[in-house]
Amino acid sequence: MFGPPGTGKTLLAKAVATECGTTFFNVSSATLASKWRGESERMVRCLFDLARAYAPSTIFIDEIDSLCNARGASGEHESSRRVKSELLVQVDGVNNSSTNEDGTRKIVMVLAATNFPWDIDEALRRRLEKRIYIPLPNFESRKELIRINLKTVEVAADVNIDDVARRTEGYSGDDLTNVCRDASLNGMRRKIAGKTRDEIKNMPKDEISKDPVAMCDFEEALKKVQRSVSQADIERHEKWFNEFGSA
Ligand SMILES: Nc1ncnc2c1ncn2[C@@H]1O[C@H](COP(=O)(O)OP(=O)(O)OP(=O)(O)O)[C@@H](O)[C@H]1O
Ligand SMILES: [Mg+2]
Repeated sequence: MFGPPGTGKTLLAKAVATECGTTFFNVSSATLASKWRGESERMVRCLFDLARAYAPSTIFIDEIDSLCNARGASGEHESSRRVKSELLVQVDGVNNSSTNEDGTRKIVMVLAATNFPWDIDEALRRRLEKRIYIPLPNFESRKELIRINLKTVEVAADVNIDDVARRTEGYSGDDLTNVCRDASLNGMRRKIAGKTRDEIKNMPKDEISKDPVAMCDFEEALKKVQRSVSQADIERHEKWFNEFGSA
């Protein structure tokens, strides 16, 4: 999975973990990076051994770019080269998957996520057969995301979700979460504005939290929370998608 930051790649992997019913191994690249000589390769091997033993299983490697930038790149550390080689060997082993004693296939799926697909080693890219683009949300998706984010708060009648969605073109799912969180906090900020600390402390709890989030709160939040993904970044992803992505 590739796409700009905050589009829900990590979240999607978590959904896979709960929906698929296979054993799920969640590893971040940082976990696999060890300063001890040979330790990282051993961990990679061990991980795949475990995954085979518990097959059917899924190995999810988050932020894989930090582990697998192109081999031979300048500044490449010799230990990171060895980890990459080991990973290639192991992914190959998974793709030509072995069988159980009763002849059924031991299925191990490798799932990876990155914001920088162009940094990934080409040999590994080839082995990750399906390359799925997770783009920024479109208008309909933004509406849906805003609704999801507002599920647990009370919303005033004047809030126009269509309008907020229209004005958040280019926002990621994460940006929208921030907009909604900020808007819901604005009500509370309004309540405590101009009050002393002791007055705030003595306010009944439900008086602070019971104020529904209004359209003016969204106006404030939209001014404060800007989109985090640049146009250039989107174009780079789309270009990479056209070249290497799976339909
Ligand atoms: N499709 C989505 N549905 C619901 N929430 C979303 C979605 N996309 C993003 N979010 C919100 O954004 C937050 C960050 O998402 P997540 O960490 O999965 O993004 P990511 O693509 O892995 O980002 P990064 O590339 O920076 O690791 C989530 O915790 C959630 O609040
Ligand atoms: Mg992530």
